[in-house]
Amino acid sequence: MASRKEDILVGLDVGTSKVCAIVGEVGANEEVDIIGIGTASSKGVTRGIVDEITPSVDAIGKAIQEAELMAGCSIREVYVNISGGHLQGLNSSGVVALKESEVHESELLRVIDGARAIPLGTGQEVLHTLPRHFSIDSQEHIANPLGLSGIRLEAKVHLITAPHSAIQNITKCTRQAGLATPVVTCDAIASSEAILSDDEKDLGVALVDVGAGTTDVAIWEGGSVVHTAVLPVGGDHITRDISIGLRTPIPEAERIKIRYGCAKTSMVRHDEKIRVSGVGGRSAKELSRQLLADIIEPRVEELFLMVQKEIRNAGGEDLLASGLVLTGGCTNLDGMVEVAEEVTGLPVRRGTPQHIGGLIDVVSSPAYSTGIGLILHAIHRQKDPIYLATLENSSWHRGSHKVRAWLTKAKRWLGHFF
Ligand SMILES: Nc1ncnc2c1ncn2[C@@H]1O[C@H](COP(=O)(O)OP(=O)(O)OP(=O)(O)O)[C@@H](O)[C@H]1O
Ligand SMILES: [Mg+2]
Repeated sequence: MASRKEDILVGLDVGTSKVCAIVGEVGANEEVDIIGIGTASSKGVTRGIVDEITPSVDAIGKAIQEAELMAGCSIREVYVNISGGHLQGLNSSGVVALKESEVHESELLRVIDGARAIPLGTGQEVLHTLPRHFSIDSQEHIANPLGLSGIRLEAKVHLITAPHSAIQNITKCTRQAGLATPVVTCDAIASSEAILSDDEKDLGVALVDVGAGTTDVAIWEGGSVVHTAVLPVGGDHITRDISIGLRTPIPEAERIKIRYGCAKTSMVRHDEKIRVSGVGGRSAKELSRQLLADIIEPRVEELFLMVQKEIRNAGGEDLLASGLVLTGGCTNLDGMVEVAEEVTGLPVRRGTPQHIGGLIDVVSSPAYSTGIGLILHAIHRQKDPIYLATLENSSWHRGSHKVRAWLTKAKRWLGHFF
């Protein structure tokens, strides 16, 4: 087996229903070819949160082994995700006086540091610092203030915080599986990289990743993130509703959902029938597919009402000229786009991973958005000095040769600051 090459990056998505490792080969112009994928059923993850180490380590090991076989390389380092209702998104700002009446890199980093210096809940740490825009004196909405003149520099940022223990738990799992973890990235940010176009991010868009246990939301406007949230609902809730409503075991409810499910009753013909196994050896019965859709529709409506509330928290529907983009395995369900449009009144499209080559057919499912986004995020962020400077303060990246190399480059660039 060939050893791991410098230009191979691996995204490891530890989800509620599956763990998947995606291997990307990065070309000279930063184009990514997917050359391997491995998946395993996830055990030990509840609503996006790792709550059992051993089964999670086993699932990671299986997914990595499969990906190694397919890609023909050995994997030592992964870019892993984090999700769960304990992640929090908040906006903050920082202000500094410009000593030499001009913005240098040092002031840029100081103002970002100021914006990060907010009181956090016990045990929380800042996972992402995402600059939104800068102001100098009365001039607002500056994307890159470097070199501009003025007296007072202000930065507006979006912060995503996570409990330190949750970051430790996911990195403990990867470490026990024999893998280094340079960076931990939240699902909504990773999926945005794989799914959204730059135009959508500029015009205003909500990325909604509906998985098994969570729905991750990232709202973009003017090219930056203005709001994020993790809603503790997903496809598992639909499966549970079906299990109760049709009195059938969970695995059968999951099978029925995937095979016959539809989120919109009016899209199903009256005469369509499905066969459902009974609980505890009771005989199978025939039911109308509309009855199944009747069970699913209210849960999906509820989900998009929660998304709508997040959109309103972020500033309202007017922000989102590009509407909603849905991804995540649960968006394979027929009728999701239609219900989302009806509830939010916004244009909605379903997004599958973009910006990649190689095994496109194999990874074109919306369930792989996070795994692919983790690779793309790693590539794009290694050139972002603000991102690298904020990584310096994070506890989990230490020991990664890749992050050390990124930081060395950034320090050279920001010479006089460090
Ligand atoms: N064809 C389909 N029709 C309906 N639902 C589907 C289909 N395919 C997958 N799903 C559902 O998608 C969900 C899994 O999606 P995904 O793989 O994105 O979740 P995950 O990443 O493991 O979980 P999370 O992101 O919530 O931690 C499951 O609830 C599954 O039942
Ligand atoms: Mg997921």
